[in-house]
Amino acid sequence: MKVVAQYAAPPFMTRRTPAPPPEPNPEGPSGVVGAAEFARSLGITREQLDSHERDGLLPSPRRRMRGEVAHRAYTVDDLVAARTALGLPSPLPSPKRQLFLNFKGGVGKTVIAANYAYRVARHGLRVLAIDLDAQGHLTKCLGLEPSTQSGTLLDVLRDRVPIDRIAVRGAAGLPNLDVLPANLALSPIELVLSQKNAREFQLKKALDGQVGRYDVVVLDAPPNLSLLNLNAILAIDDLIVPVLTDFLSYDGLRILFENLETVREDFGFEPERIGILINGFNAGESLSQQSRAAIEQFYGELVLDTVIRKNTAFGLATAEQKPVFEVAPRSKAAQDIEQLVSELLGI
Ligand SMILES: Nc1ncnc2c1ncn2[C@@H]1O[C@H](COP(=O)(O)OP(=O)(O)OP(=O)(O)O)[C@@H](O)[C@H]1O
Ligand SMILES: [Mg+2]
Repeated sequence: MKVVAQYAAPPFMTRRTPAPPPEPNPEGPSGVVGAAEFARSLGITREQLDSHERDGLLPSPRRRMRGEVAHRAYTVDDLVAARTALGLPSPLPSPKRQLFLNFKGGVGKTVIAANYAYRVARHGLRVLAIDLDAQGHLTKCLGLEPSTQSGTLLDVLRDRVPIDRIAVRGAAGLPNLDVLPANLALSPIELVLSQKNAREFQLKKALDGQVGRYDVVVLDAPPNLSLLNLNAILAIDDLIVPVLTDFLSYDGLRILFENLETVREDFGFEPERIGILINGFNAGESLSQQSRAAIEQFYGELVLDTVIRKNTAFGLATAEQKPVFEVAPRSKAAQDIEQLVSELLGI
């Protein structure tokens, strides 16, 4: 509870040499994985995998030629099917609700949330991505056209329609990725919420009704101090705060923490984990280095180890309305999101 109060008013300081960028994943994030990674994702040993395949508990895998050798190749569908066939529990100790929020606009909330949700689903977890922004950019990034979606969070919060009745199944080609889309129909949400009893807890209530259905719920917030965002803060476990390495973003953190402090005072609640995520980092720019050092200096343990580097793959993927893992699977963008998944979920 003390964490928020402690960080309510940071000065802008520069010191400390920045940590080196994360090591790339040597196997590279790709849609199809080999036996070692497949076994690891299932939480079993390679020998157990071999024996389950021999015994017919798991189907024989397909093969992929690498040079002269045929290697076993597994997809996310195989992962989901194997988990079910083996009766394996979720690899997470408990389900997680994770909100990407910063009151500052254009810091990468949406593009990171979309790629993160996709990558978590690729690990075979049941994921729900919720678009809280009437712009519908998360919806777009996950391959859906916002304007043609018939249901949004408005229906859930206004008419108490259960989330899973509206969520779009199988987004971005993954059977285990659901999206609760957004479009302009979501615009009256503030008015709707303001007229409710317990108006700050409506989203939490709706999500509590989905317990057991999803392993991870990823929420992408609009950049404002709205009642909807307050609902989101009060509904989550983890708050992830993407921040660019420039002065205004740094200053925006102060505003966010002052606000979180108010939430803590008013509701006696703060998220279990707050992770500041440095985004758009460019080691070749001294301002980027200085800002990163300032953020790390002041916010210390709240800053995640993962740093998302500036990378054109994000823009390319957004333009194609696909995840970076499809458009540029070996890009720095894909590597950094992979590292974020590993840091936040331990998978
Ligand atoms: N690490 C990065 N490298 C390159 N481009 C990036 C990076 N992160 C984000 N971008 C680009 O910055 C722009 C803004 O990103 P995004 O829409 O995700 O921000 P946002 O915080 O969700 O904005 P808003 O507050 O308007 O919702 C997009 O064009 C995105 O592709
Ligand atoms: Mg956004």
